[in-house]
Amino acid sequence: MRRLIFFSLILFSNFIYSQNLLFAEPRNPIRAKNGMVVSANELASKVGIQILKRGGNAIDAAVAVGFALAVTYPVAGNIGGGGFMIIHTKDGKSIAIDFREVAPAAATRNMFLDSDGNFLPDLSQVGIKSAGVPGSVSGLLYALKKYGTMKIEDVIQPAINMAEIGFPLPYSTANSIKYTLDDFSQFPSSMKIFSKNGEAYQEGEIFKQPDLAFVLNEIKNFGVDGFYKGKVAELIVDQQNKMGGLITLDDLANYKTIEREVVRGSYNNFEIISMPPSSSGGVALIQLLNILENFSFKENEWGSSNYIHTLVEAMKYVYADRAVHLGDSDFYNVPIDWLTSKAYAKKIADKIKNSATPSDSIFAGSPDSFEGENTTHYSVYDKDGNAVSVTTTINSGYGSKLVVEGAGFLLNNEMDDFSSKPNTPNQFGLIGSEANSIEPGKRMLSSMTPTIVLHNEKPFLILGSPGGSTIITVVLQVILNIIEFNMDIEQAVYSPRIHHQWKPDKLYFEKFGLSKDVIENLKSMGHIIGNERVLGIVEAIMIDQKNKIIFGVTDKRGAGKVEGY
Ligand code: GLY
Repeated sequence: MRRLIFFSLILFSNFIYSQNLLFAEPRNPIRAKNGMVVSANELASKVGIQILKRGGNAIDAAVAVGFALAVTYPVAGNIGGGGFMIIHTKDGKSIAIDFREVAPAAATRNMFLDSDGNFLPDLSQVGIKSAGVPGSVSGLLYALKKYGTMKIEDVIQPAINMAEIGFPLPYSTANSIKYTLDDFSQFPSSMKIFSKNGEAYQEGEIFKQPDLAFVLNEIKNFGVDGFYKGKVAELIVDQQNKMGGLITLDDLANYKTIEREVVRGSYNNFEIISMPPSSSGGVALIQLLNILENFSFKENEWGSSNYIHTLVEAMKYVYADRAVHLGDSDFYNVPIDWLTSKAYAKKIADKIKNSATPSDSIFAGSPDSFEGENTTHYSVYDKDGNAVSVTTTINSGYGSKLVVEGAGFLLNNEMDDFSSKPNTPNQFGLIGSEANSIEPGKRMLSSMTPTIVLHNEKPFLILGSPGGSTIITVVLQVILNIIEFNMDIEQAVYSPRIHHQWKPDKLYFEKFGLSKDVIENLKSMGHIIGNERVLGIVEAIMIDQKNKIIFGVTDKRGAGKVEGY
């Protein structure tokens, strides 16, 4: 009852209260007729569904969810980070919105190397210099203005309310804040927000964020300028100046969201639309699907050594290409058409034989030889058929761990997604090259893969995941589970996954992902088995266009929520 009163107070003072809470939790996949929101946080999903019920479209709801996550899901939800949004409108238009962070103008190629040329991960991963210029506020407001129908005050007010009045901390959030207190303790501004005078918050305690409410109110009152100019920008830059950061008032004022062409691919009769650079996600996903289209798998082959072997070999070639060819396409000529062509995929498929190819003997292809934890995802679908797929990040869990003094939000540590030193792994073990070197104003390469799969030109799947380098292979396996193995969306998301990223030459797997005899078979084929780990937290929607049913699933690996009506 206490919970009920809280929710009604905070969120829905002028909304009709969602009846879902009054009944036992329905089983996934949850079905709905009109609209659906799936996110990593219950309150954020509720905010989104109320926007849809009030007549907002999927873009309005996605923007409201984005601001809500910045309050209720601080491990990854953010206004101090960046992200990508894929939209497929009811009129059949596909749009990619890039609000990735950029390197400050004063950033230099070797800023994370010592005088002997050694990489300094502590600098690129924690604290003031690890932050890129944030893009989230610009991106969300760009999407709202161009593709939404509501006013900013309508979509941001629930987030303001939750920051001002507070909300009861769920178990998962209370715990993850508690386990990060050691990291936060380097920064008094972070301890002020995420502890009670140094003591950990407990599950169920009310978590209020007045400084963050102030920033959200500035955004409500002044739009983009409320964050990138004026009082909030000054708070950001004051702290940068005090702590030796590089972000200036000009960097903030110059930040621009970029609308791009989606990358397109196909798999059997399905069309894939996903994120182009500055993410590697869409290109790599399409390249993987193109390679795998050259093989056929029987339904009972799921999980077999042959299936895993083929997946892993394809992954190695694609991540080798990623390391060399992918970077911000505004700074580097990324050969997207070649990488996503069926002809190049066929050449790779022809190289896949019955034994494992060691990563050291796989090299990125060359276009010349071609003749020819942390991030979060949410998916939204509305009654008119608009689909939105958003992945947003501050990079690691709680980003740089540094809260902007007086502004109550965490800065990202996205600078670590650049390749600071060629062939030297970042926190995800990813290596890179010139294509992803640090340059002023450049976007660091991402793996985020917000994706929409179309069937007969209508949205069929809306999905994405957090997980750094593993995002691409996670999204791939959920799509294959559905299209190739006829799983329902719940099975497809819940089933165990594997991951390989070329280097290190290791096959990672989830608990129950590889049986003992499959591991033995894979070893005898030459595969090197890595450790067990959790791979992704997928938030997905599937639409049965014929019967007009929307199915949603939030990954059992997380603590998210499906809301439909
Ligand atoms: N920060 C993780 C990514 O963008 O891939």
